[in-house]
Amino acid sequence: MAGVGNLDASADPAPWWRDAVIYQIYVRSFADGNDDGIGDLPGIGSRLVSIRELGVDAVWLTPFYPSPQADGGYDVADYRDVDPRFGTLADFDRLLSDAHELGLRVIIDLVPNHTSSEHAWFRAALAAGPGSPERSRYVFRDGRGPEGDEPPNDWTSVFGGGAWRRVTEADGEQGQWYLHLFAPEQPDLDWTHPGVRNEFEAILRFWFDRGVDGFRIDVAHGLAKDADLADIDGRFAASGPARTGHPHWDQDDVHEVFRRWREISDEYDGDRTFVAEAWVHDPARLARYVRPDELHTAFDFNFLLAPWDAAAMRRTIDISIDTLGAVGAPSTWVLSNHDVVRHVTRYGGGSVGERRARAAALLMLALPGGAYIYQGEELGLDEVTDLPDDVLQDPTFVRTGGEERGRDGCRVPIPWSGDAPPFGFSASAEPWLPQPSAWRRRTVEAATADPASMRSLYRNALRARSSSAALGDGELEWIESPDGVLAFARPQDVVCVVNLGSVAASWRELVDDGAEVLVASGALANEHELPPDTAIWLRARPRPGDPSA
Ligand code: NOJ
Ligand code: CA
Repeated sequence: MAGVGNLDASADPAPWWRDAVIYQIYVRSFADGNDDGIGDLPGIGSRLVSIRELGVDAVWLTPFYPSPQADGGYDVADYRDVDPRFGTLADFDRLLSDAHELGLRVIIDLVPNHTSSEHAWFRAALAAGPGSPERSRYVFRDGRGPEGDEPPNDWTSVFGGGAWRRVTEADGEQGQWYLHLFAPEQPDLDWTHPGVRNEFEAILRFWFDRGVDGFRIDVAHGLAKDADLADIDGRFAASGPARTGHPHWDQDDVHEVFRRWREISDEYDGDRTFVAEAWVHDPARLARYVRPDELHTAFDFNFLLAPWDAAAMRRTIDISIDTLGAVGAPSTWVLSNHDVVRHVTRYGGGSVGERRARAAALLMLALPGGAYIYQGEELGLDEVTDLPDDVLQDPTFVRTGGEERGRDGCRVPIPWSGDAPPFGFSASAEPWLPQPSAWRRRTVEAATADPASMRSLYRNALRARSSSAALGDGELEWIESPDGVLAFARPQDVVCVVNLGSVAASWRELVDDGAEVLVASGALANEHELPPDTAIWLRARPRPGDPSA
């Protein structure tokens, strides 16, 4: 059998996170409860029923903590509170209990690699001066060169430019430099410092005690840095998933942090969970984050990055299932998030992109393991590529001198209802990013009423998935299929066939005669062929005699 299942069906019932479908809420852009043009926690609360109706198991909320918003809230000034823009702690508690009442679990975002430059620790570090205990929580160094006016090493910021900023000391002179792998408003913490470790353990407990079901770990592969801060010296590309040996990504020392966190989550009841955001190129290195005593799951970004090509997709899927399965972890599939171009657009845009996105949804939701859905993908939203310069907020735009437009195009507020902006996102306020008028055809209201909409497809698929023990965790068996086509069987006679090629493909000969279509991503011209860029779920058995069966 190709591909390895990773769970013995006779074992204890699997914990929920092994095959959960989790809906990512980008808080600023989901729903605006107080009509100021910015999404907030009460807004999410008012839309929980709609999320529940979609059929997901949980939501992941992006950061809602007090923050100057230099990087959409990934610059946290206080890890134990809610930014007034998004509500209050009481609003959070209410949202959590309302979600739980509806049967939805809640995961929140933890940002441990860096704080905001407005965090009390960083302000104290600036005030206290070189060599102080306050500075030792961050990565402060003297500059190179006779005047100390060259950065301590050659590292660059993910958002463009150098990764070091020089500070003005109390005497008014130019002084030390501090490391910021992201924006200068996001100074990196020094994770060798016991005080830093203790503080984050206390933060985990603060939210676990309030009842959260888990955390998404921001930049999980970034916490540990090479002890000597060695130069990169052209050895590694400035972007893309990290290659092994990189001095500030995927250093071995990150793992002891996660082992400690796992001990903490295990103290709590209810299968609390962690999902790692770790942009690591080598699947075997990614698997290290999800060893049994570390984090529970990690996004599979190789799946997200895979081109629309059957062989490439199959390879990515097999490698993920095999490498993570080898450490007992499930795969966690994802097609889009708030950092990447929306996949309708990545897959070609327009009607082609949309057809492929529909097929990709059925592929992703039929694979063993868990999956994340990014708000708006269930509406078929595309990347907004024509946002005017003056509304762009992603620091990437400014830091690359406009060369990269940044990630705002996938963060445009959700269209809920009506014919014109703000499409029910706000009552009447102008949303913080303008919505395309064409989205009138893509509102939740319009999609809910249309049985052929992307949202109806997600709903039908999620309904079929939750009513079938075959989907989610478990085994996958490839069925030999023509070029350009992926076909695989899950237990209990569920088969998924995806045509990533450019010609119609017959699926009838792959399965037994009694096959019945459960869900189709698009119109089927006849009863035996799958059009290009289309996927189906069947109640069927692989045709006997298939060499791989
Ligand atoms: C990953 C987050 O998803 C992204 O939005 C953020 O800019 C960086 N980490 C830095 O926190
Ligand atoms: Ca608001």
